[in-house]
Amino acid sequence: MSTPAIQIDDLTKVYKVGETEVHALRGVTYQVEAGEFLAIMGPSGSGKSTLMNIVGCLDKPTSGQYLLEGEEVSTFDRDKLARIRNQKIGFVFQTFNLLPRTSALENAELPLLYSSHINSKQRTELALKALESVGLKDRAHHKTNQLSGGEQQRIAIARALLNSPSLILADEPTGNLDTKTSAEIMQIFTRLNEDKKITLVMVTHEPDIACYAKKRIYMRDGKIIREEKGREGCEDRAR
Ligand SMILES: Nc1ncnc2c1ncn2[C@@H]1O[C@H](COP(=O)(O)OP(=O)(O)O)[C@@H](O)[C@H]1O
Ligand SMILES: [Mg+2]
Repeated sequence: MSTPAIQIDDLTKVYKVGETEVHALRGVTYQVEAGEFLAIMGPSGSGKSTLMNIVGCLDKPTSGQYLLEGEEVSTFDRDKLARIRNQKIGFVFQTFNLLPRTSALENAELPLLYSSHINSKQRTELALKALESVGLKDRAHHKTNQLSGGEQQRIAIARALLNSPSLILADEPTGNLDTKTSAEIMQIFTRLNEDKKITLVMVTHEPDIACYAKKRIYMRDGKIIREEKGREGCEDRAR
């Protein structure tokens, strides 16, 4: 058995807001093997984004253990978390999070902007290659505001790929896209997962989108309440 990509054990997260405590995660235990494609579903407020933020090393759990590729990151300080995040993880968000009035190429280059081991020519080559892999090489010099939502999300995926991550985390990646564009984005994710063997974890509230993943977990009130594998629950859904 190889080391799991993600191994979380009895994670809790409590947010303190003034006098009140919000129990966003109430003991989550789960394991994601390297190369899996997992969708996280569940109603608003069930803890999906909180879980993604912890898995993405953007936030720390209140208690519990998190091993990322076998390393216990739950004990890491902020600097160490930032380093491991840059090495291993690519992020894709619902709102694309691109720099406005900046070209597709410049956006895609961002993750390597401060890498001392890489010069600007190499950086541009890598960014162009990433843009090509999402079918956007001919848009490299377009500004983000000149591009459609689907094209902007493809730039965000190219940017997520720039550090050659072993793990991509996507929080509602098709939330702002129409059905046809959403399907195109999911085909790109499927290809990255199958061809490049990148582990993918995606939050979505759309069953059709979740059915592109090879496993689905359902959250409610800060806990995982159900898991589905393969086409289970997706029998009637086209893809
Ligand atoms: N930064 C925060 N401070 C306080 N409460 C938060 C914070 N982030 C999320 N919450 C609360 O934690 C719960 C889970 O939120 P979240 O993880 O965003 O759920 P989901 O992504 O499933 O909609 C919600 O009750 C939400 O209001
Ligand atoms: Mg959320």
